[in-house]
Parts: sequence; structure tokens; C-alpha cells
Amino acid sequence: MTKNEAASRANDLKDLLAKYDYEYYIQDKTSVSDAVYDGLKSELKKIEADYPELITPDSPTQRVVGTVLKGFSKVEHSARMLSLNDVFSKDDVEAWIKRMDKLLPGHQHEFFAQLKFDGLAAALIYQDGKFVQAVTRGDGTIGEDVTANVKTIASVPLNLRSSKAASPFLKGRIEVRGEIVMSKKDFEALNKKREAAGQPAFANPRNLAAGTIRQLDPKLVAARPLNFRAYDLITATPTQTPTFMSTLEALEQIGVAPIKPAEVFDTIDDVMRFVDEWSEKRNQLLFNTDGLVIKVNDRMQYARMGIVGKTPRAAVAFKYPAEEATSVVKDIVISIGRTGAATPVAVVDPVVVAGSTVQHASLHNADEITKKDIRVGDTVVIFKAGDIIPQVDRVLSELRPKSAISFNMVRELRRQYPELEFERPEGEAVYRVKGATGPLLLKKAVEHFASKAALDIDTLGEKNVVALVDAKLVNDLADLYLLTKEQVMKLDRFADLSADNLIKAIDVKKRPPLPRFIYGLGIRHVGTQTAIDLANHFKRLDNLGTAAYQELKDVDGIGEIVAESIIAWFADDDNQELLAKFKKLGVWPKDTKVASGKLSGLKFAVTGSLSTMGRDMAAERIRSLGGTFQTSVGNDTDYLVVGDNVGESKLIKARKIGTKQISEQELLNILDK
Ligand code: IVH
Repeated sequence: MTKNEAASRANDLKDLLAKYDYEYYIQDKTSVSDAVYDGLKSELKKIEADYPELITPDSPTQRVVGTVLKGFSKVEHSARMLSLNDVFSKDDVEAWIKRMDKLLPGHQHEFFAQLKFDGLAAALIYQDGKFVQAVTRGDGTIGEDVTANVKTIASVPLNLRSSKAASPFLKGRIEVRGEIVMSKKDFEALNKKREAAGQPAFANPRNLAAGTIRQLDPKLVAARPLNFRAYDLITATPTQTPTFMSTLEALEQIGVAPIKPAEVFDTIDDVMRFVDEWSEKRNQLLFNTDGLVIKVNDRMQYARMGIVGKTPRAAVAFKYPAEEATSVVKDIVISIGRTGAATPVAVVDPVVVAGSTVQHASLHNADEITKKDIRVGDTVVIFKAGDIIPQVDRVLSELRPKSAISFNMVRELRRQYPELEFERPEGEAVYRVKGATGPLLLKKAVEHFASKAALDIDTLGEKNVVALVDAKLVNDLADLYLLTKEQVMKLDRFADLSADNLIKAIDVKKRPPLPRFIYGLGIRHVGTQTAIDLANHFKRLDNLGTAAYQELKDVDGIGEIVAESIIAWFADDDNQELLAKFKKLGVWPKDTKVASGKLSGLKFAVTGSLSTMGRDMAAERIRSLGGTFQTSVGNDTDYLVVGDNVGESKLIKARKIGTKQISEQELLNILDK
């Protein structure tokens, strides 16, 4: 991105985020999810990190979060309301435990894991068992007195329950901390009512709960079904609740509903099983969760571990990955499926959705693109709906570049498939290859797969293919490997021996060389030479399948059209299913070995500019002799070639690691020897 492009993108992002803020804070209406808002904000942050001169005081990134609201009186918290550090994987959790081990070596911790409810934090103060005050988190130190509003929440007891077990908590001052939440069901019902009354809908229960508590009129609050669920209890004598599990039990004793489920575990593996278990099951809970809180169960140890900044060391929030994200459409490519149907696919900047990196999103058909008006250059919201390929939910049209033109399926088909003719059958949303019926294309595909230049399957010529497809024994390429001698023998063309030969000929081609397999898949525009180039570059089929558009274009001999066609092929659900089926049947190409040569096993990096050749040329010559070319110096680099105008940092790094440094002339000597 040039500086001008960055400045213009930053401005667009600022405007849109300001609009969302206005809708949310002023109009009580939320049009986007947190994931979308946060995604755009972090994009802006990244631009501002690259170009600090673009930071303006009014940028949403400069806003201090958690400010004290006007209109409510301020209350200082008895103890600061802290936040939690986020973790996203088992590795992160293990790193957290290592940090604690350093601090308290040799301690075997018990872990308390509890679902994390996505609401608005509040502290409820009870004096001698009576509810006296409710305070929001505010900035953590000073919150707002929302007593009158919280009093309307039915699950906040005005008098604590008395019992023998509860008695220690019924004298003096205690503080219950937890989340004000709204159930998913109540939220939906309320939103429906609002829509019916022509009022703007809320985006999610959390925002609605937060918006409600900020109302100055408690009557309005009472009309909305809020709930309270607790996660902590603070008393004058902490020894009454030595663990977080005993805290949860104490909350139940005094008649306050704690956040559940919550459990105690001895090992992190058990905690992770709990995390995984609730990753799916959380959808069935009454309230929205955005993860789990994991704490050291023993409160003494928890306290000993202390606080860094605003977060305790002995607790983390495990965040479930967002199921939505924003990205920019780089291209719209079209894949032609087995039946000749043309499916458009959006190629997007890589982005993590629901825990995995997404590079393509399905667009279904031309009507869908028109309806959503998706254009190349658009910023879109992507979501996963249980399919292999994620979908585009909608366009953020405010971020559309002026140059973005409407998508035209016919024009694109002509550009991407100049040699084919398409038709759109009456009443169908899909364009298909003209005159092509499913079986016809399938026969061609199987024939191609078995051909000499591809898998070279003996005796599987045109006539046999036709017989197998017509008999419905082969419905996709992988079905070849499921054929049995008995099935084949039943066909007119086969006898005992010929059927046996065919099955054997197929069976010996279960581990074909990668270039042949790539060619055999029949990806449009991928001929034998391109397949060899791709195999040499990517070495494994998985690498090819996950390659980004730019990476494909960087392969020698691969242009825009071929790159698009490869992306489209791998982005097609049918093809992904086919690959999965191949894999299950043990049919998979052998990885391409690194070229062997005198530089085999040696790794080179170049710094500065070379006078006799460009970097690409150096890389190619090193690779052609079996060596590896690296773009940066790592622990495993054998030689750092030092050219002209070298930056100090790479040399310092190389020196530190102890990488051998050689001159350009020395490299030439090695290459020419
Ligand atoms: S324990 C140091 N447990 O999430 C704060 N918090 O991101 C310890 N939250 O401030 C909090 N569910 O407002 C805890 N089961 C749970 C929670 C929970 C939601 C909120 C809470 C906290 C924030 C931290």
C-alpha cells in the first residue's frame, strides 16, 4: 500500500468507525458485530503503526476505553475491577503457565475454569445481607452508581438468603461481582418487538444489556429482561472462601446465581478438554459466551501471583475464535464444477475466521453477487456456516473504492474462459458450459485423469471410462479406487482377467508423482509443464491448495489467468470433497523431493544488492543446485551472502547466530565450481 492509499483507507475506516460509534452510543442501534468493529479498528491500528503521521487525535484508536459515564454519580471501587489477558490456543495457555512457574517455581496448581459470559461487569454491594448499591466497572477504579437500574433486575436478590452456611456472609459489607446479561431468547423476542414497532434492532444481547443499564430512567430498564450472573465474592475475611470453587458455592448459599458451568481440574490437558467441550455446546447455553476464564483455584496463590498493569497474573480469558471477520475482495474467480456449473468465488486477503485462515469465500451464483452487490475491491464481512468454504455475508459499502465496478458474470466468464460457451438454463440461477451434461464432463475428466501424461492408468481408455461412468460405478475421480473386480466383471466389456487387470492398474497408481496428479486433476489452464512448475515450487499438494493468489503468480510461468483458475479449483466445495475422499482412500501424490545437487541441504540468504544478478536469479541458481533460498536469516541459515548497501540489522543478527558470511564473489565461486 502506498502512503496515499493508506491515508485514504485510514480516512474511510475512521469515518465508518465514527458512524458505528454514533449509531451505537447515540442512536442505541448497533449495525455490526464486535468482530467486524474490532477487525476494522485493528486494520486502522496497523495502518497507523506503519504510518504514525496518519494518527489524528479524533481517531477511534485514540479513544480511552472504559470512561466514566455522565449522568450517574461516581463511586470508587473498594478494590480495582481488573480485566484479563486473552489467550487463543493451548500454546498460549501453556506459555501462561510457564510464566507462573517462573514466579512460583515448583507449585502444582489446581485450575478453576468457568464460562465467560459476555455482558456488562458490575459490583453489587450488600451490607448486613441487604442490597445497597450497584456500581459499573467504569474505568476499573471509579464506576457509575447504577443502583436504581440494577434494582429492577429480578435475579439480583435485595436480601441475601440466610442459612447456617450463609451466615458468615450476612454480616458487614460484602461485594458480589459479576455480569449483567440478557438471554439470547429474550434478546430475540425484544428485537422482534422493536422491529415491528419500526425501531432499530440491537446487534447483540451484550450491547443491549449495556445500553439498557445506561438508561437514566429505571422504568425503561425494568421493561427489559436483564439478568445477573456472578463470578466473584469479596469479603473482609478471604479465608472464608479459600478457592474460587468455594466462592462459587458461597454465592449459591447466599442466593446469588453464579456463572455456570464451572469446574476444577488438575491438569491443563483436562482444562483444554473442557474448553473444547464447550466450544460447541456453548451455543445451547441461555447466555452468550465469548470464551472461558481459567484461574488458579487457590485464592492465596492467586493473590501471591500479583497484578501486571490491569490484569492478574493468575488468570486468563480463553477466547473462542470469532465466527465473522472483515477482509478485502482481491478478485472474483469462477470455477467450473463436475457438472459444468460455473461458481463464482471471492479471493480475499487472508484473514482468520472461526480459528482458521480464510482466503476464499463462496459467492454461490451471479444473482447472489448482484443481490449483495459484491465487487472486486470491496471490504466484506465473511462468516463460516459449517461449510468448508466460508461465505460473504455483506459488503461494507462505505469502504468501497471509487474504482470498484459492478461484477458482470457474462463478461467474467468470457474473460476467464475464452474458449468455452455458457448458457443459463431457464429458471436456473447457474451458468453452465453449453451442451455439457454431467456425465459427458465426468467421462472427459476420468479419461484425462487416466491418460498417459497424467496417472497413466493402463487399460483405462475412452471406452472403458464410458462403460464405467454409464454403469454409474464411477461418479467422481476417486470412485475409480473403490471399484471391485466383481462390479467391473458384470459389465459387457470385461471378463475375469481384464477386470482384474484394470483393478490392479488403478491400484498401483495410488501414490502418483505430484506433477502427474496435479495435471490429472484437470484444473483449467494447468498443462503438463505448468503442473511440473507448480510441483517444483510447492512440493506438496496441500501447499498448492492453500497458496495465496500472489504466491501463485510469483511462480515462474504462472500468470493471472492460471493463478485464478487454480484458486477457483481449490475453492470449490466439490473439489475439496474430492480431495478429502482421495485422502481417505489412501490416494495421494508423493511429495516432490527437493532437487538434489551439490548444494543439497544448504540454506542461503542474501542481504544487500548483488552486482552480477538479481535476487530472483540468485534464488533460482541456488535452488537448481538443490540449495534452499531464504528471504531472511534464521538459526538454520548456512550462508549469508553480503552484497552492497547492506543494512546493519541483518549483519548483527547473522553475527549473533554465528552464520557464515560470504561475499558475492564467493557465492559465484560456489555456484560455478
Ligand atoms: S473473572 C480480573 N470470570 O470478563 C477479573 N470474569 O475480560 C477477573 N467475565 O472483568 C474476572 N465472565 O467482567 C471472570 N466467569 C468469569 C467471567 C468474567 C465474564 C468478565 C468480567 C471481567 C472480564 C475480563
